[in-house]
Amino acid sequence: TYVVTDACIRCKYMDCVEVCPVDCFYEGENMLVINPNECIDCGVCEPECPAEAILPDTESGLEKWLEVNSKFSAEWPNITTKKDSPADADEYKGVDDKYEKFFS
Ligand code: SF4
Ligand code: F3S
Repeated sequence: TYVVTDACIRCKYMDCVEVCPVDCFYEGENMLVINPNECIDCGVCEPECPAEAILPDTESGLEKWLEVNSKFSAEWPNITTKKDSPADADEYKGVDDKYEKFFS
């Protein structure tokens, strides 16, 4: 599966939802997540994200993000169309440790 990582937090560009063939993105207040049970590993969302927030879970160190994606995709609503990003999205692009700052 692919997972959304903390680079998405407060950026939420939502280009990813437009390309997913199985509509497996779920929307929280500050970020989106992928449902790992629904993702078919096609990889088309990865290059679409301007924040480079989407990665295959085969990359090392992503266990926490797989857990976050699994947990919250079961709780948050499905999102299939791009909406307006937060007005200050660009200010949070590339900021480190956003999970610790905004999400825990
Ligand atoms: Fe959707 Fe493909 Fe991205 Fe999985 S890898 S979330 S199926 S676009
Ligand atoms: Fe987030 Fe990137 Fe999608 S910032 S909402 S994963 S396009």
